[in-house]
Amino acid sequence: MADLDSVLGCLDLNLDRSVERLSALLRIPSISTDPAYREQCRLAAEFLAGDLSAIGFEAAVRETPGHPMVVAHHAGPAPKNGKPAPHVLFYGHYDVQPVDPVSEWKTGPFEPVVEERTDGTKRIVARGSADDKGQLMTFIEACRAFKAETGGLPCRVTIFLEGEEESGSPSLNPFLDANREELSADVALVCDTNMWDRETPAISTGLRGLVGEEIVVKAASRDLHSGYYGGAARNPIHVLAKILADMRDDDGRITIPGFYDGVEELPEDVKESWQALGLSDETFLGEVGLKVPAGETGRSVLEQTWSRPTAEVNGISGGYTGEGFKTVIAAQATAKVSFRLVFSQDPDAIRAAFRKFVEDRLPEDCNVEFHPHGGSPAIQLPFDSPVLQKARVALSDEWPNPAVMIGMGGSIPVVGEFKKRLGMESLLVGFGLADDAIHSPNEKYEMSSFHKGQRSWARILAALGEG
Ligand code: BES
Ligand code: MN
Repeated sequence: MADLDSVLGCLDLNLDRSVERLSALLRIPSISTDPAYREQCRLAAEFLAGDLSAIGFEAAVRETPGHPMVVAHHAGPAPKNGKPAPHVLFYGHYDVQPVDPVSEWKTGPFEPVVEERTDGTKRIVARGSADDKGQLMTFIEACRAFKAETGGLPCRVTIFLEGEEESGSPSLNPFLDANREELSADVALVCDTNMWDRETPAISTGLRGLVGEEIVVKAASRDLHSGYYGGAARNPIHVLAKILADMRDDDGRITIPGFYDGVEELPEDVKESWQALGLSDETFLGEVGLKVPAGETGRSVLEQTWSRPTAEVNGISGGYTGEGFKTVIAAQATAKVSFRLVFSQDPDAIRAAFRKFVEDRLPEDCNVEFHPHGGSPAIQLPFDSPVLQKARVALSDEWPNPAVMIGMGGSIPVVGEFKKRLGMESLLVGFGLADDAIHSPNEKYEMSSFHKGQRSWARILAALGEG
């Protein structure tokens, strides 16, 4: 306990320096999906491996066919009564999403600034501040403080940082398989999720799965004059728009045959615990300027985002979109579509069902190309593991309100792979907030998230180390 107090004190004293370290990482534009930033991804990996070496981890940048991984090891304390200290694997991702539309940013996406509000609270603004660089640094800072104050760590710790999380993790599975022994631990700690609200920490017990698919509909052999050919020639933008519109009925249900296979109703007790969180649809949507839930009718927004599957169009393009006007019938049209999955929905089956749905609706003179962009099933974690109970107490000690258990509409594919490939459960604890604007312009991380997140990990590590 005395150790923990001094570690917490160390974190308080060094907050400014930890913000400087985070800022240095945020200045590296590690956008994994865009090949132009390949070197920057490497630089971010090298920065982190360097920082971990500096605090006594045996750390290395590890090659993959894509962006490198960072793997670092630190021994735990000597066995107590013949029992070795627990071994935890911490996972985070150093890559970030693209920054467009860049004109919407008030400050440079890779020029981190600390902004103070009139009420004295602060936030760190930059791409990746919340997703996931700020979050992963909360754990590293907790380790740094433990080392500084006690000379060691309360658990054996492996740190595993990925650089392709935001682009479908193409190198992840082969890397996990090739390094199974090295990466297997008693539990994975993942810091890439949200709190319930500013005062209430949360443990996420569910994540939705994801299927990404790009489709290209092609018609004529070249772009056409829309007067000369208009009316006679098939317009692939119309074809694509109709297919996409057909995916949802007026009640917000997805119409793809077989889409709901494996989807169950929520158990009553879970439904009740979500209701008890007391979030109204208006509050959830009001923050982003909306009012009316657009998903399946008769379900709350928490149900819609945490326990129901969805199909979303993420991008659509074709024809002339530049300045001015051009009368043209494009030769092709493209859409990027993603499906969020729940329960036991099978990613491969969903992809196949979508492709068939598109092909069945393709008129004469059109053809379609499909490009897959990753797939992962939904995750459901146990509610009652000892690790979860310890984390719950540790979080409740740190924050004004006790920790709650929540679902999460986003996806973190690695969690399912840890279970499947390494037989390892995960603990999902993160300090993001709904208004952090992850994936959007002006992404920010609350200073309280960064600071109390560090303190939370120190408490969790100490609690896990007690065995
Ligand atoms: N940190 C997010 C997941 C998340 C989203 C957690 C919202 C909490 C709230 C994660 O980095 C992410 O965005 N994942 C992608 C995965 C995809 C690109 C494979 C996602 O969910 O879109
Ligand atoms: Mn993300």
